[in-house]
Amino acid sequence: MAKKPIKRNTKVNPTTKTIKVEKIIEDKIESKTEEITKLVINNIDKKNNIEETFDISHILNNDTTWQMSIDERIIADYIIQNLKVKDIAIEIGSLKGGFTNILAKNFKKVISCDLDHKQIDKNRFNNVEWVTGNTRKTLAELIEDINDKEDKVSFIFVDGDHTYDGVMSDIEDILLLKPKTTVVVLFHDTWYKSVRLAICESEIKNNKYVYYVNTDLCSVSSVVCKTMWGGLGIMIMKPDERDFELSINQSNDLMYLELFKSNNR
Ligand SMILES: C[S@@+](CC[C@H](N)C(=O)[O-])C[C@H]1O[C@@H](n2cnc3c(N)ncnc32)[C@H](O)[C@@H]1O
Repeated sequence: MAKKPIKRNTKVNPTTKTIKVEKIIEDKIESKTEEITKLVINNIDKKNNIEETFDISHILNNDTTWQMSIDERIIADYIIQNLKVKDIAIEIGSLKGGFTNILAKNFKKVISCDLDHKQIDKNRFNNVEWVTGNTRKTLAELIEDINDKEDKVSFIFVDGDHTYDGVMSDIEDILLLKPKTTVVVLFHDTWYKSVRLAICESEIKNNKYVYYVNTDLCSVSSVVCKTMWGGLGIMIMKPDERDFELSINQSNDLMYLELFKSNNR
């Protein structure tokens, strides 16, 4: 007798947004381990019946000038792709320009800050303004300047001075921004002690334009000499003042504390 087909519960909560990751192996390439040539994320929005394909093959190019792990790159790129306004992005910590390159391809203008820009071939970029100097001195003026103009900042990447005081200073200056649109601020290295602590102890909670904060969009990506590095944090600012109490989310804090016990320099 033929077996009865198993009934699967295919009912989907209409409000959930699921991300399906498919690995598509196209050609078997010669390299020993790398068989994956294309990785596509299908973002399926059940509620609105939208299925969009999000191609991240350009992220998998092993760009050594970009100091972020693959998962951090994918998340940062995904957020950028989905921003509605892409006038200006501010980058704190240009280094070799790996991430500046991604920003420059997506925004009309990028303002990239670093102590110096000697490691960058500036001729590669035609829409980047380079702000050279310590952000403890340059950032406040830059933000005040933007406040006075019509230009809309919608993305800020914080990856410069990783000391507690350095991160505090960068956050303090970012909080001077009067958002003209939704602003996504990403913090790199939130699993590095002083970065995480500064975010949690900063004035973020008391700023009326901040709507959401989470230190753990992404977790630790490397441990060097017993020091944890990597992790992406997010802060979302909006033009209207919020009317609720804000808390700093640390979604993966239990794991952070557990790993911190053995990697705590
Ligand atoms: C980790 S690297 C940035 C990596 C880059 N975001 C990337 O993804 O490739 C940190 C950079 O911040 C710069 N930096 C450190 N302290 C700074 C400060 N106080 N002001 C401006 N830049 C600073 C360093 O010179 C360095 O280039």
